[in-house]
Amino acid sequence: MTARAQPAQSPPISVVLPFFLLAPLGLIAAGFLATELGREALVAVNGRRTVAITHALALGWVTTTIMGACYQLAPVVLGGPLMSHWLARLHLVVHLVAVALFVWGMAWFNATWVGVAGSLAFASVLVFLVNVGRAVWRTRQWSIPRAYLACSTMFLLAGATLGLVFAGNLEHRWFTVSHGKLAAHAHLGLTGWVALTVMGVSYQLVPMFNVASRVKPRLAYPALALTSAGLVLFALIMWIDPPRDVRLLLAGVLLAGPLLWSVDQVRLLRGRVRRRMDIHGRGTVVSLCFLGLTVFLAVGAAWGSPFTPYAEPARWPLAYAAAGLLGWAGTAIIANSYKIVPFLIWFHRYRERTGKEPVPLIRDIADERLATLVLVAHSLATLVIIIGLLAGNLQWLQAGGGLLIVSGVAHLGSMLSMFLPKRSSRTTGVSTREVPM
Ligand code: HEM
Repeated sequence: MTARAQPAQSPPISVVLPFFLLAPLGLIAAGFLATELGREALVAVNGRRTVAITHALALGWVTTTIMGACYQLAPVVLGGPLMSHWLARLHLVVHLVAVALFVWGMAWFNATWVGVAGSLAFASVLVFLVNVGRAVWRTRQWSIPRAYLACSTMFLLAGATLGLVFAGNLEHRWFTVSHGKLAAHAHLGLTGWVALTVMGVSYQLVPMFNVASRVKPRLAYPALALTSAGLVLFALIMWIDPPRDVRLLLAGVLLAGPLLWSVDQVRLLRGRVRRRMDIHGRGTVVSLCFLGLTVFLAVGAAWGSPFTPYAEPARWPLAYAAAGLLGWAGTAIIANSYKIVPFLIWFHRYRERTGKEPVPLIRDIADERLATLVLVAHSLATLVIIIGLLAGNLQWLQAGGGLLIVSGVAHLGSMLSMFLPKRSSRTTGVSTREVPM
């Protein structure tokens, strides 16, 4: 069951919006670092520059956006208040300092600063969990998004704990980091935290924004159970670097949940009442296509050499991570931002004036053509990076980095442009107090 949204419970705009506006800086930083990637990036997945890029994207761009979205969704959709609005503002500062220090420390390798940054990043995760904990864990009514967030926040904690251990290990050398151990940490973060949150939230937002109230999701809980159980199994077994057959089996188990989820999403999209697809619908379709590519690349990455060339074994795993993070999750996040940010601006700027004077509708706040251009630029950047990685072509990889900068700047610019004064596309004022889409 999806939850009944309660827009009146929205936190102040100064709590949520800064997360959305600052997050693209992570995308832009990752693009800059990618423009100087060298051949060594294709040899090991944990080259210093690669780890800096991964975390600029995962912790900087994606996690910052998702945390901001959770601060909005917790009171409005999950039905519980945040612990403190001031804590959320402080959290953003801690999180940004942590990510900036981590990316800088990794890119210009300084193990001590990476350790400090890792501790700050871990603290940021704890503060976030405390702040949204009441909404996620203690409200009375269960809904699909809440069940997904209850699991994804636990995986975030597990992934961040391993990340902290890895960060300390860089300086103290407690153990040898292997491909399997990295995969365990990476999947707790990417599948457990990012993918499960995107999946859960889409059960709320896809029907809401595409008006698919007649179709009910059927596979939400099986998809959640399969993904969560598959991920626990995956992380435990990958830690001991199993052989290829076991890796392929684990990949199959882990992919089953997202595939079930995608069946539900296609049903919801096909059953929509609003036939014309807006930016959210288009973004969802692109995101589902990237999920298909992610599944294909995951199998290739699990297969390993010679599928992945012996001399450059990082090509397929990195292409797989790019498809999942930039493609599947990234395009969904961009599409959602063109609904959530306009809603926030409308709600806090125009809601009080409805019925008294003509006010813009929510759809007047974002420029649909600009949003589509951003989606296209981002998808193109992702595809160029994936092709560059698979082909071992550094020029393509670096060009993809350049395109990421362009799409990140455009995304940020388009969100800032929503603050400019807007005119109503209706001639008469809205006569009710309802939220006009
Ligand atoms: C407190 C938060 C985190 C810290 C301190 C942290 C730290 C680290 C460190 C130090 C490594 C490199 C290990 C080594 O090579 O010895 C690493 C690898 C990795 N981490 Fe994290 N991490 C955190 C959260 C995350 C999250 C949330 C994600 C994904 C959403 C993630 C994705 C990855 C990936 C994909 C790798 C594999 C290497 C690469 O390609 O970058 N990490 N992490």
